[in-house]
Amino acid sequence: MASPKLTLGLDIGSTSVKLVQLKEVVQRGVVGYQLQSFGIKPLPADAIIDGSVMNSDCITQAIRELVEEHRIKNKNVTLSIPGHSVIIKTIRMPTMDQEQLDESIKSEAGQYINIDINDTYLDAVALPTEDDQSGQMDVLLVASRKNIVDDFVTAVAEAGLTASIVDVDTLAVQNCFEANYDVSSGETVALLNIGASITNIDIVNNGNPVFTRNITSGGNLFTQEIQKQLNVSHEQAEALKSGGADTDSDAIVPQEVEAVLETTAAQIAGEIQQTIDFYTSNAADGHIGRLLVSGGSAKVPALFKAIEQNSGISVEYLNPFRCIEIDSRKFDPAYIMGLAPIAAVAVGLGLRKLNDK
Ligand SMILES: Nc1ncnc2c1ncn2[C@@H]1O[C@H](COP(=O)(O)OP(=O)(O)OP(=O)(O)O)[C@@H](O)[C@H]1O
Ligand SMILES: [Mg+2]
Repeated sequence: MASPKLTLGLDIGSTSVKLVQLKEVVQRGVVGYQLQSFGIKPLPADAIIDGSVMNSDCITQAIRELVEEHRIKNKNVTLSIPGHSVIIKTIRMPTMDQEQLDESIKSEAGQYINIDINDTYLDAVALPTEDDQSGQMDVLLVASRKNIVDDFVTAVAEAGLTASIVDVDTLAVQNCFEANYDVSSGETVALLNIGASITNIDIVNNGNPVFTRNITSGGNLFTQEIQKQLNVSHEQAEALKSGGADTDSDAIVPQEVEAVLETTAAQIAGEIQQTIDFYTSNAADGHIGRLLVSGGSAKVPALFKAIEQNSGISVEYLNPFRCIEIDSRKFDPAYIMGLAPIAAVAVGLGLRKLNDK
């Protein structure tokens, strides 16, 4: 009997490393997935700054600990690169096969990105297009800075793993969405992944990313504002933000915390809305039918509410485990669902290999 297919997704975020191991199960000819392992290790604040590796050793250490604690045997891992230094664009090119595309993208990409092609890893895939009469096709171009990608790959290699696929956060969230939700409706969906240092915005239609942008604000902004305005430490601000504060201080007035959360939420939600408005006013059919949020900062209730109010669309949490079997003898469902928004990238990465290989 063939050994079960196990895949590993590793999301190296600026606040923590998330590991997801999935097992492919085929029942009556239908492929499904089971959660095998899920782990999170926090990273110190100086490990990754603005999407670049600053302290490789603590990333490697966090990965090693996750691998040991979860008794991970497979060495191949799907990794993703944060959005800070990645350019994602849909471009038009003459219809060609993948081999020709890989070849010609090197000479074509220069006109679409303003960084030196020699310092860049380029990926191009043809997107399914309805009319192929024109002799043209839509191509998804992903360009990422070599030095940044190499630093992540090295940190993973130092932990004894091989980065066999290198993806980007935004597209991993999209993959997670597509594996868990029915995407055939033709509806345009906005996916927001609100992390600590960055918010990835991906607007998708029929499985294609029609618009992607990153905003370099996220959960850190709440922490910084609470720290500054209420004169507390970073740790206290983090705890106050998540509602689990034990501040040892009578000076903290819950209403003041709430007020800072609300003003900061309004600021972040405003930036998100500007991007959505930019898309809707430029797209031929810019109507967004659904808005799904993920990332740890989506758990700030004030932000969730502000996004809903600004967009006028009902906001839902993206559930990365919607179609993934979770054995309740092995995992506490409440624990898993509590962390679900944070797991979206790692699950999308874990699913990548199963779908693509
Ligand atoms: N319950 C909660 N309430 C409020 N904020 C939360 C909660 N849980 C996590 N967060 C915040 O979510 C952020 C972490 O989310 P996530 O794991 O998605 O980010 P990351 O991947 O580490 O960072 P990034 O991708 O932005 O570099 C932190 O700012 C953290 O404080
Ligand atoms: Mg992240």
